[in-house]
Amino acid sequence: MRRAESPLSSLSQQRPESLEAFWMPFSANRQFKAAPRLLVRAEGMYYHDVDDRPILDAAAGLWCCNAGHARPRIVQAIQQQAATLDFAPPFQMGSPLPFVLAQRLAALAPATLNHAFFSNSGSEAVDTAMKIVLGYHRLRGEGQRTRFIGREKAYHGVGFGGLSIGGLPNNRKQFGALLAGSDFLRHTLDLQRNAFSPGLPRHGAELAEDLDRLIALHDASTIAAVFVEPVAGSAGVILPAPGYLQRLREICDQHGILLVFDEVITGFGRVGNAFAAQRFGVTPDLMTLAKGLTNGAVPMGATLVSDAVHAAYMQGPPAAIELFHGYTYSAHPLACAAALATLDTYAEEHLFERAIELGEYWQSALHSLRGLPHVIDIRNFGLVGAVELMPRKDAPGARGYEVFERCFRDGGLLVRCTGDVIALSPPLIIDKAQIDRIVEILGDMINATG
Ligand SMILES: Cc1ncc(COP(=O)(O)O)c(C=O)c1O
Repeated sequence: MRRAESPLSSLSQQRPESLEAFWMPFSANRQFKAAPRLLVRAEGMYYHDVDDRPILDAAAGLWCCNAGHARPRIVQAIQQQAATLDFAPPFQMGSPLPFVLAQRLAALAPATLNHAFFSNSGSEAVDTAMKIVLGYHRLRGEGQRTRFIGREKAYHGVGFGGLSIGGLPNNRKQFGALLAGSDFLRHTLDLQRNAFSPGLPRHGAELAEDLDRLIALHDASTIAAVFVEPVAGSAGVILPAPGYLQRLREICDQHGILLVFDEVITGFGRVGNAFAAQRFGVTPDLMTLAKGLTNGAVPMGATLVSDAVHAAYMQGPPAAIELFHGYTYSAHPLACAAALATLDTYAEEHLFERAIELGEYWQSALHSLRGLPHVIDIRNFGLVGAVELMPRKDAPGARGYEVFERCFRDGGLLVRCTGDVIALSPPLIIDKAQIDRIVEILGDMINATG
């Protein structure tokens, strides 16, 4: 590896002498460091690696960069903000941009979600939502509602709150008992009935009634909230049958249980409206956001809260702090600037409409991979897709990883693999030729992997 020439050389030119010191997140560190995949710059639909090879981005980075990379408006907003107001203390002090951003988000969100609490990641947005929910019930004299219902195969980040309602065993098993009392709906992945469904699967709306089973077991009076991803992303793109989310909403309403949509992935145009809540026509009580909020350019999370939940807090003496929660970097000026410029970019380029405009093309392109070796399911919705491969005997995940690795090395394509699922979520600026290219490369790499 090349040495950094001098401490003053441009940061983007610096290369590490060793990869040892950085403990990489959610990565096989030793495998990676033996054969690194290093990205050094990005623009539009492409990354470039250390050898300046273009890498077509079929993952929007990590479900983040919905407007593509290095968009000038966003870059300039961050640069100007850093030079104008680098930091402002968010406790008992303010600066204008968070207020502007909260209003913009409220205007984009379903009508009742008019309040935003800012954090720095999806994990923090989820933990914030959990705390707001607990405090809400307590304020209303229902402090016994402390139980959270998540769903098998769900991913709600890595804080102890989000882990406790997350349903991915690998993420949980190292960390003990987690938050007491959480329980789980059955997941909605059903290859037997739904494999190769174009768009939403036909079967599985009745799985929402699993909530009735948990209510019968625990009693509704102990349940604070149900958390679901409208479309589960990180577990490998798991879609709800039509009517499933509506039914969850009805059951929650019948029992005074709050419904929280984790839209960290589905937010900001990924499934064809600003939010999945609008695409599915179901309004939650709270919504968690991150990733596409700033186009991935600066870390930021947000928890959107309904008028009713917010109003419960805005009682009592005005001098009292209503919620004892917040982060040093809540509503950081750089993040707010990036988010506002991102929302402008989405609006100017009509990117929230792209997933619907391109949805059918995307669907038929992806489903053309049916019949390739080991492909056992193909799923799509909006501009999200997944190709599920048959796991190798005694080596689950190996085939998926190999396809991912080949895509990068031999195909110049960035995809995401979770186990044996290849997940796709390209920037919404993608064109049809680039969709064809993704499918062509992925098909070749699946064929080559065997
Ligand atoms: C649905 C969902 N919630 C929460 C998170 C956690 O977000 P972060 O990694 O920003 O903490 C993710 C990340 O992928 C996610 O997909």
